[in-house]
Amino acid sequence: MEPQLLAAFDAAVAAAGYDCRSEAVRDLARRWLADRATGAGRSPAVGVLSFVYDHGQHDLSHRLTHLQHEHHTEVVTSLHVHLDRSTCLEVIILRGRAGRLRQIADRLIALKSVQQGGLALLAEPRTGKEALAR
Ligand code: NI
Repeated sequence: MEPQLLAAFDAAVAAAGYDCRSEAVRDLARRWLADRATGAGRSPAVGVLSFVYDHGQHDLSHRLTHLQHEHHTEVVTSLHVHLDRSTCLEVIILRGRAGRLRQIADRLIALKSVQQGGLALLAEPRTGKEALAR
């Protein structure tokens, strides 16, 4: 972990009233695992994936575009905002089986230089064959 990130994390851990960093890390791990359990599997879902990245980093923009083309069946649309000279916000709407959307989000967020990524999963309001045929 970068020293700056660790210092900011330690400050937030102290401000939140934790006695030590490891207890905060345990809580984070529990929450992350609980989040991942939600919306897993084959149920139809709509996903809102948002993340911030530095577009000047390596070939990240091309890799992000490539990954979205690779998953064109699930990617419905995307929104790109230039936050400042180097930072971009990308919001991608996904539709498909929840576990599949989670996998796609994991792959995008795991790319180096992608920061602050998150996936919000919503249950697909439609039911039956129509929804699962996608
Ligand atoms: Ni941009």
